[in-house]
Amino acid sequence: MAAWHRITALSSLLQVGLLLLLFSARSSGKTLEKCLGGKSCQPPRPPVVLIPGDLGNQLEAKLDKPSVVHYICYKKTDFFTLWLNLELLIPVAIDCWIDNIRLIYNSTTHSTSSPPGVEIRVPGFGQTYSLEYLDPSKRSVGIYFFTIVQAMVEWGYTRDDDVRGAPYDWRKAPSKPPCTHLH
Ligand SMILES: *[C@@H]1O[C@H](CO)[C@@H](O)[C@H](O)[C@H]1NC(C)=O
Repeated sequence: MAAWHRITALSSLLQVGLLLLLFSARSSGKTLEKCLGGKSCQPPRPPVVLIPGDLGNQLEAKLDKPSVVHYICYKKTDFFTLWLNLELLIPVAIDCWIDNIRLIYNSTTHSTSSPPGVEIRVPGFGQTYSLEYLDPSKRSVGIYFFTIVQAMVEWGYTRDDDVRGAPYDWRKAPSKPPCTHLH
């Protein structure tokens, strides 16, 4: 049941990301109107980069772990969808999932890393699919930017051309400036 509490918490974080998007879409609304004597020339559409909120794009993992937290957990895999994959959020499986998605904080270097033997990658940089559907199986529960992108396509935008996505590893905080100890 913890998984469902988690999902509820997740959906409120996703909404925060959506608001950030609307704000940035508004502020990029200026267009360059360079029409040299043309009567029928339309102002160019501003290209749009969608930046998802926390948890707002797919993540993939590849495992080659020295140990696992439960005998049902996979130790060695090729890349698979770690987020969003509802099959991994059921009881017991969620323990494996947490052990794969967590970050380890190193208090000496003040940096974070994935656990030993876990490689995480962000699929689809520059494309929209990994934030349109968090779940690659396109189940409705994972719909995120799809409705917005689809509306933009109906206005004349083209996916992965003038509307693009900037997915990232949202587990990590923005890096601190190197000399924070001076402040
Ligand atoms: C933290 O990073 C330092 C420097 O890379 C390393 O020597 C140390 O073993 C790390 N600590 C942990 C707990 O991983």
